Amino acid sequence: MDSHQYKVLYIGILLATLTIPCFSADCNFPAIFNFGDSNSDTGGWSAGFGRAGSPAGETYFHYPAGRYCDGRLIVDFIAQSLGLHTLHSYLDAVEFNSSHGINFATAGSTIRRPNTTGFSPFSLDVQFSQYSQFRTRYKEAAKKEIFEGLLPKEEYFSEGLYTFDIGQNDLTSGFFGGMTADEVKAAVPDILNQFSNIVKNIYWQGGRSFWIHNTGPFGCLAYVLDKIPLRTPEVDKYGCGNPFNSVAQYFNEKLKKVVVQLRKDLPMAALTYVDIYSLKYTMISQASKFGFKEPLVACCGHGGKYNYNDKVGCGGYIYVNGTAVLIGKSCEDPSVKINWDGVHYTEAANKWVFDRIVDGSFSDPPIPIKMACNREAH
Ligand SMILES: *[C@@H]1O[C@H](CO)[C@@H](O)[C@H](O)[C@H]1NC(C)=O
Ligand SMILES: *[C@@H]1O[C@H](CO)[C@@H](O)[C@H](O)[C@H]1NC(C)=O
Ligand SMILES: *[C@@H]1O[C@H](CO)[C@@H](O)[C@H](O)[C@H]1NC(C)=O
Repeated sequence: MDSHQYKVLYIGILLATLTIPCFSADCNFPAIFNFGDSNSDTGGWSAGFGRAGSPAGETYFHYPAGRYCDGRLIVDFIAQSLGLHTLHSYLDAVEFNSSHGINFATAGSTIRRPNTTGFSPFSLDVQFSQYSQFRTRYKEAAKKEIFEGLLPKEEYFSEGLYTFDIGQNDLTSGFFGGMTADEVKAAVPDILNQFSNIVKNIYWQGGRSFWIHNTGPFGCLAYVLDKIPLRTPEVDKYGCGNPFNSVAQYFNEKLKKVVVQLRKDLPMAALTYVDIYSLKYTMISQASKFGFKEPLVACCGHGGKYNYNDKVGCGGYIYVNGTAVLIGKSCEDPSVKINWDGVHYTEAANKWVFDRIVDGSFSDPPIPIKMACNREAH
């Protein structure tokens, strides 16, 4: 090479090093702080209100590991892909190790304080309060030898990834309380305003990287279809309920706008919006193409059109002449099923979704999760 070629090469390398790092730098997230409902609950509800019993966990953990699933949730796959251990729940004193982050999600959680029974008292504002407590109080604990290796380091709170999967229960609670689709839609701005405030509060406490899942097509889930029977024209050709899914889509449109606004309000934050809805709906509507069977029918359950019974769920028993008989049994092969228990997804379905979000294909901006700290790409 002559000197000119060297110069071109040199300038080339210089340009590459100047431009590429903005988009390609791994964030090396040391921890995850998760907020959500049962879609990402790794033991919160179980710790507070009783364990999600066997056959939960049968595929992966081989014991009921506090998840409403036969195995791992999307948040578990996220943690493992980042080289972190799966998250323990803030509420779980037995399996407590928060060195790689902590999970505030509980099954049945809403963004707004719930008014209806059957939902979790740990709504998003309470989860934030728990996070704040943890944030300030862990410092004292960290000084004690007995907690060594069990707590995050101070810098993890700014370097960690803050993940959210919440909102589904705000919408279903509206329907279950007798609201029409339009009435539920009318509540969305207030729901999202509260969501937005929580993200801001975390930012003001030092959080910078936010990974926000939109809400799934809950109109394809047995527990909704079973509880609120629809007339034929309201059901799409895959068997999903249009009024429910249209509200989910409306919520997601507004959520996306909230994220855009948050990017303006929080100049040092990297906020990624992840389109879980499209993936779950694609998986359900084209199930056989992806190796799944009977997408609306629960793997674990009993009876009815969806192998789902509101009264006796997955793992549930009935008493026959004083003897407990298990009727909420698991199916033969959960790996070909999408729906686990009429409410939640199987490990196979969660993995299918995770495999498609991990590289950023369904995110705005479209960057891989391990690079989701990069503001430059937003
Ligand atoms: C609960 O009820 C109060 C008072 O009626 C209302 O302001 C609030 O929005 C309700 N919350 C939900 C989640 O419906
Ligand atoms: C907690 O988890 C971390 C990360 O997996 C591990 O290195 C550490 O040994 C665990 N602590 C205890 C006390 O088990
Ligand atoms: C329950 O007990 C009654 C009376 O002994 C008997 O007729 C019936 O067959 C029993 N049912 C079952 C399912 O064992």
